[in-house]
Amino acid sequence: MTQTLTLRRPDDMHLHLRDGAMLAAVLPESARHFARAIVMPNLVPPVVTGAEAAAYRDRILAALPEGMAFEPLMTLYLTEATDPADVAAAHASGLVKAVKLYPAGATTNSASGVRDFQKVRAVLETMAEIGLPLCVHGEVTDPAVDIFDREAVFIDRVLDPIRRATPGLRVVMEHITTEEGVDYARAGGDDLGATITTHHLIINRNHILAGGIRPHYYCLPVAKRERHRLALRAAATSGQARFFLGTDSAPHPDHLKEHACGCAGCFTATNTMPLLAHVFEEEGALDRLEAFAALNGAAFYRLPPNPGTLTLMKGDAAPFPAKIETGAGPVTVFDPGFPVHWKVLD
Ligand code: DOR
Ligand code: ZN
Repeated sequence: MTQTLTLRRPDDMHLHLRDGAMLAAVLPESARHFARAIVMPNLVPPVVTGAEAAAYRDRILAALPEGMAFEPLMTLYLTEATDPADVAAAHASGLVKAVKLYPAGATTNSASGVRDFQKVRAVLETMAEIGLPLCVHGEVTDPAVDIFDREAVFIDRVLDPIRRATPGLRVVMEHITTEEGVDYARAGGDDLGATITTHHLIINRNHILAGGIRPHYYCLPVAKRERHRLALRAAATSGQARFFLGTDSAPHPDHLKEHACGCAGCFTATNTMPLLAHVFEEEGALDRLEAFAALNGAAFYRLPPNPGTLTLMKGDAAPFPAKIETGAGPVTVFDPGFPVHWKVLD
């Protein structure tokens, strides 16, 4: 028996496209299904200024294969030296849709991130005035805090104080992984959003660590215990405007994932939409997939929904490639560990 599901063309509100050979290989994987994406700025060196974001946008568009349409929504990497006037100009020109806050040392290429939050006050105040969202990697980096507690502690120690000190600041809690994150996002107003990844709806920490260490499931924030995964599923499938898709698809070549000090990131661009259909069907919420993947994020970013549509079909198990080849080495596609019966109709 086949079944189809047609939704507005989705957006990925948190994506790592990288640069150079990796960009060329992963961009079509996203552009095949997604009309737009909020593109993360954690390149080496990071995308800090409006001019750097414009140049990166040009490289992305130059890497887009003929005949594919995709709109990169650019972000700036917040540093303690970021100039509020440059941020305001990049926003006013329409180039930049958000600023990304990485606490220094929290994750891949975050060394230039923020250590002293007082030093970014003026930028945050400008952003509150102009309505430019702050995308937050919400983990403390204090080595005394257990890695599984870093998100919950960040909410209390950093996020809530920043929001109280900066009325009107629009914030996206990126890739929430805990019940505490879900609860905090739910309790916020219209100026608060939260992205949820595909993989955090599917794996918990056992998938990473039980019966052998599985580096391709290692990402940051790291997957937590099962009750958190269930809270994320409830949030994502609730239809509530606060919650929307940000895959955090983060490619690293296999030799850097399968390593003594492996990189953090799950690569889900290729199979996110079939996996989400599977998850939403399991939760009896197929009718809410469009809100999560195509409507809520656009509304938060004050963008119109995409004019086009995407159709998924359920039928025989539809395998996807285990890896994609890139000029930087093979990249493993996220394996959910179960057969997937949904596929995107091209
Ligand atoms: O798992 C992750 N990978 N989390 C991040 O925050 C960064 C990302 C990356 O850039 O590889
Ligand atoms: Zn990310």
